[in-house]
Amino acid sequence: MENRSQWGSRAGFLFAAMGSAIGLGNIWRFPATAYESGGGAFIIPYLFALLTAGIPLLILEYTVGHKHRGSAPKSLGRVRKGFEWIGWWQVTIAFIISTYYAVIIAWAIMYAYYSFGLTWGDDPTSFFVGDFLTLTDPGTFGGLVPKILLPLLVVWVITLGVLSKGVKKGIERANKFFIPTLVILFTIMVIRAVTLPGAADGLSAFFTPDWSSIADPQVWVAAYGQIFFSLSIAFAIMVTYASYLPKKSDITNNAFITGFANSSFEILAGIGVFAAIGFMAFTYDTSVSQLAAEKGVGGVGLAFMVFPEIVSQIPGIPRIFGFLFFATLVLAGLSSLISITETYVAAVSEKFNISRGKSIAIGGGLSALISLLYATRGGLNLLDTVDHFINSYGVAMAGLFEVVALAWFAKGLKGFQSHANDISDIRLGTWWRVCLGIITPIVLGYMLLQNLRSELS
Ligand code: PHE
Ligand code: NA
Repeated sequence: MENRSQWGSRAGFLFAAMGSAIGLGNIWRFPATAYESGGGAFIIPYLFALLTAGIPLLILEYTVGHKHRGSAPKSLGRVRKGFEWIGWWQVTIAFIISTYYAVIIAWAIMYAYYSFGLTWGDDPTSFFVGDFLTLTDPGTFGGLVPKILLPLLVVWVITLGVLSKGVKKGIERANKFFIPTLVILFTIMVIRAVTLPGAADGLSAFFTPDWSSIADPQVWVAAYGQIFFSLSIAFAIMVTYASYLPKKSDITNNAFITGFANSSFEILAGIGVFAAIGFMAFTYDTSVSQLAAEKGVGGVGLAFMVFPEIVSQIPGIPRIFGFLFFATLVLAGLSSLISITETYVAAVSEKFNISRGKSIAIGGGLSALISLLYATRGGLNLLDTVDHFINSYGVAMAGLFEVVALAWFAKGLKGFQSHANDISDIRLGTWWRVCLGIITPIVLGYMLLQNLRSELS
């Protein structure tokens, strides 16, 4: 235990935590969620969720990992024996997410490449669901092997390769390269997007507030869901990453930095995505709302059906715009995939006392094998279904169990509070315990019920 790996520097930890947080959720989930949940007015439930649940829980996860120096099951088990299963629940969710996250990154690699030739042709939607998902090379194995196999292999080789180099030389180093590169490329993409004709209409559709939405409980549920997914909390990740922090670390400040960096990136993404959609509406001579209703503005549809269409219409050199968009998806995705995979690699290696290498081979290998399922014909449907259940129940339940267990069924939050206060500049007060012990459990419980109800109706 004394030989536990450590981050080389504070910046290294922060880049890794941001790498986990900044992912597909920022680029294709936030813009759509905000747009559908009141536009500019969404900022109120969103900031509320960030400040009362997101950052407070992030502080708690950092503290648990830092104090107990183990992966999530081990750290939670050290808080109280009976809590270990909560960690395993989170680890399982992380594992499931990694199986499809990898496939999406592999698609993005293919599309970054297709950008140069605008390979998706005149009808990107049929190309994606028709050709792309079944694309095989007739010359290899009688046309039985989908082309996605090679990029998928690349994704796993990079991810497992980085993990096998360890915390400092692997995860930290990779993120120190990924995150700055991601921010630079993404900013260039956004600048190009906002200078396209029609961009202003897209932005006004995105930012115009619908204040009545604030009275809608669904909007609050959406805000909390976005914050949890986007900050990678209740996934066992941040506990694991914080367990590699040196003794003297300003935990609370680190949590604020991670939270604000992640939110800044998603607002930037909202601007880029909606500027591009405004341009699309301009070329089709229609309105943004009409277009959004017809095509959808989030998820797989946005990235692999709508964006290719936008790219093809861009005047000048469309190829660079397309490449920038898909390359940033790849970078954001990889840094998140690395963090999710590290979660179960660390948990399995600690639990069964096997080396990291073995754990990477077993855990990573298994996830890589399962990810092949999504590379099949029914893959997209399977992905949608799994993603839906994870988002509606998995995360809310994991968060609820975690916060209730720590706040109510251990020795209370005071011990964590003083642990964090001893080493941090910002001092946690009663507000922190109220947010975690009362507000967050109520909201998460309500969120679960709402999701269940909408399932049944
Ligand atoms: N936080 C990441 C995002 O916004 C997603 C993620 C979820 C990453 C869970 C790791 C674990 O895309
Ligand atoms: Na995020």
